Amino acid sequence: MIPQSFIQGLLARVDIVDVIERYLPLKKSGANYFARCPFHGEKSASFSVSPSKQFYHCFGCGAHGTAIGFLMAYSGLSFSEAVHELARDAGVQVPNDGRTPRPQNDNYERLIEITATAAKFYREALGQSPEAAGYLQQRGLSGEIAARFGIGFAPDGSPLQRIFQDYQNKLLATAGMVIDSEQGRRYDRFRHRIMFPIHDRRGRIIAFGGRVLDRGEPKYLNSPETPLFEKGRELYGLFLAQKAIREAGFAIVVEGYMDVVALAQFGVENAVATLGTATTPHHIQTLLRQTDRIVFCFDGDAAGRGAAWRALENALETLRDDITLSFMFLPPEHDPDTFIREKGAEAMHEAAAHATPLARFLLDNLRQNCDTADAEGRARLVHEAKPLIARIPAAASILRLQLLKAIASMSHLTQAETERAFGIAPASERPRAAANSGASRIPVRKPPPSTVSTLLRLVLQHLALAARLPIGLIPDDTAEGRALIAIVDLIDLGEPVTGLGALVERFRDTPHGDILAQAGAGLIDTEFDPAVIETLFEDGLRKLSADAVSQEISNLMEQARANTLPSTGRQRLNNLLREKSTLATFTRPSDP
Ligand code: UTP
Ligand code: MN
Repeated sequence: MIPQSFIQGLLARVDIVDVIERYLPLKKSGANYFARCPFHGEKSASFSVSPSKQFYHCFGCGAHGTAIGFLMAYSGLSFSEAVHELARDAGVQVPNDGRTPRPQNDNYERLIEITATAAKFYREALGQSPEAAGYLQQRGLSGEIAARFGIGFAPDGSPLQRIFQDYQNKLLATAGMVIDSEQGRRYDRFRHRIMFPIHDRRGRIIAFGGRVLDRGEPKYLNSPETPLFEKGRELYGLFLAQKAIREAGFAIVVEGYMDVVALAQFGVENAVATLGTATTPHHIQTLLRQTDRIVFCFDGDAAGRGAAWRALENALETLRDDITLSFMFLPPEHDPDTFIREKGAEAMHEAAAHATPLARFLLDNLRQNCDTADAEGRARLVHEAKPLIARIPAAASILRLQLLKAIASMSHLTQAETERAFGIAPASERPRAAANSGASRIPVRKPPPSTVSTLLRLVLQHLALAARLPIGLIPDDTAEGRALIAIVDLIDLGEPVTGLGALVERFRDTPHGDILAQAGAGLIDTEFDPAVIETLFEDGLRKLSADAVSQEISNLMEQARANTLPSTGRQRLNNLLREKSTLATFTRPSDP
């Protein structure tokens, strides 16, 4: 964990305009800077950067965020990597709060040196081993593609002993390159294997996968988890595939090293592989930073189907209505490697284009597992669907609704019955949601922003206002209300926050993060006129008071009706009723 105070200080030092300018040509227009959006194809410049808010926002695709967020989205870095990158450029050292034993920064560099040195040796050793070169040739790899992926060969014995003068150095073990036996002897982890270097998103080698040349076990040996390498996060081939993924508009996820390499050799360069693990939500999130379409490619056999289903289960929590995840199944006798060699790139493209969308795969699978001819089978279907549907987040509420309707019809239930079975309040009991889902034909006028929503945006534009908001008056029944409460709380505690960007970072990974980022992005093009801020704010305050009074009145009335109102309460009720009539004369009820 990087201390929040450090992040706040860092954001106060860097200017988002400088950061983004390193990647995109920015043009100043008015208070803001503009560029063509790097996150979606466009001809006009809808991507705007606000120096005063330290925030960017694309009017075209809605992408938005802080300087840290930009590095994460643009370079595919993790949060911590982005902070380190910003810190490096600002010439400051990222502190360690002691909770996570992070390697020293210079250790990290030294580990990278070790893997790079080893990789160089393995590449050279490949050229000197007719056996290894012959194996790759027999597998149909061109010299060019082997060079592009930096493929090498780890000879037998412990050759790294000769490469590293200080073979006993602890860092060689930390980097996962050697193993210490119980007898205290040290030997190379990779022996007599074809070596596939694994790159991070900046092209640095962080780990290896090594394949036996014969029938030995295990077929593939991977680096262990090290400070450089976390299996569930990294994707093989992503560094080389990044550009192709952007250009193709989608990424293909396969299972094997050889698959990625063969696909690239035959012109399908937008493929990556998981590293001997199931696809994790983290893998998917990483790819979603580069593209909004992912095609999972699995072998057509039973194992492939099983792996696809696990990928589906892990993908559910990452779903959004603006992304497409689909599944393609190869003929049972093929994997992507053999498929593209036999059928060619065109067939691969064709198959990817006809991949099964996630929803259909899910429904087909449910149908296959449950015999819907009987009530029992239909009940089982609903039972099995329930945990799956429950994982789909609100960001994919439309897809969830479609699935719900399909499951309802498959199980001979009404939509409301299915929702009840799933423990979701039926749409009919949520009038607003129903109107927004498009079920109604009557065009709905966008409701005016609520008091809380206006207050939130006012505070985001002018943080000093937060100090004047009585925290107890803010209703906590909406996400915006809760976000506003959190901000007021923060300011009340005297935490220094330098502006919108800093505030958004402060709430990253909290339930308020998205709401604040969205409200902030909206402010870039529609700021409140400074002349009306004070009036709007006071209006808002009055409305909050009036709402609080009305709420208390109705609570007291309730007690009065139940004959449980003590005499002090009666007095209070009278006061409140008087207060309400005064407030009403100040508050124009038709205000938005
Ligand atoms: P496969 O055995 O299907 O690999 O394992 P492949 O790519 O088709 O291998 P070739 O064509 O025989 O060379 C798929 C992936 O699962 C992981 C590796 O990432 C491999 O590429 N795996 C497999 C391991 O990590 N360890 C193993 O022992 C086997
Ligand atoms: Mn294979």
